[in-house]
Amino acid sequence: MRPVSNEKSDAGVVVLRAVDVWKSYDEGAIQVLRGVSFEAVKGQTVALCGASGCGKSTLLHLLGGLDEPDRGQVTVNSIEVKGMRKRHLLLRHEIGVVFQLHNLIADLTLEENCLIPTVAAGTDQKTARARLLELASLTGLSHRLDHRIQKLSGGERQRTAICRALMNRPKILIADEPTGSLDASTSGVVFELLLKMVASEGLTLVMATHDRSIAEQCDRLVEMRDGRIHESATG
Ligand SMILES: Nc1ncnc2c1ncn2[C@@H]1O[C@H](COP(=O)(O)OP(=O)(O)OP(=O)(O)O)[C@@H](O)[C@H]1O
Ligand SMILES: [Mg+2]
Repeated sequence: MRPVSNEKSDAGVVVLRAVDVWKSYDEGAIQVLRGVSFEAVKGQTVALCGASGCGKSTLLHLLGGLDEPDRGQVTVNSIEVKGMRKRHLLLRHEIGVVFQLHNLIADLTLEENCLIPTVAAGTDQKTARARLLELASLTGLSHRLDHRIQKLSGGERQRTAICRALMNRPKILIADEPTGSLDASTSGVVFELLLKMVASEGLTLVMATHDRSIAEQCDRLVEMRDGRIHESATG
């Protein structure tokens, strides 16, 4: 398993934290999270496993500041998300998200999709394009920049989603079953790539996955069950 960041000053710094987090839908009719407590340390890769419907996406959305808990605390870099003024800036600069259903715009090209977050962040075009070329090269997509998403393969779409998530150089990557829609061999390739990006960009990764063989390659594997996190001894 990959070691936690070696940088002494960073060792042990908690970048994501949930403390006794509760979350329900439909005005409490669907109780999903029942007191989740969780921490991710800078540079770690954490796999989040559990049965379909147990609340993995729900928790990731809370950790990414996309939604707020009913009760409990979520902090990103020690700042509480709930009530945060300009919470959207979290998603622009601190956290990249790869969604379960990639959420790319099918009619736009790979390049256009990836540039959207840089427009929101106010990055100048030259810098944004240089970053795109860098990420496309790292993910083997340089020859696909002007292709519409609808023409890309499943693996290429997931790799595009990874590029888009990293365009604004976030330090935390939340990935919701980034390989869930892919066959075993493509899934392995995309996950290898994800780990490579995590290492080269110095990221903290929290990733939901159903795939045990992928989960076991992360530094930690945590399991969601009965609305809570269960963690066995880590490697
Ligand atoms: N917006 C919503 N409104 C109502 N119920 C929801 C909503 N989002 C999720 N749920 C319900 O909350 C529960 C947890 O959903 P969630 O998507 O977090 O599960 P999951 O662990 O990610 O599942 P999967 O592995 O299938 O992706 C499910 O029962 C789901 O139907
Ligand atoms: Mg899910």
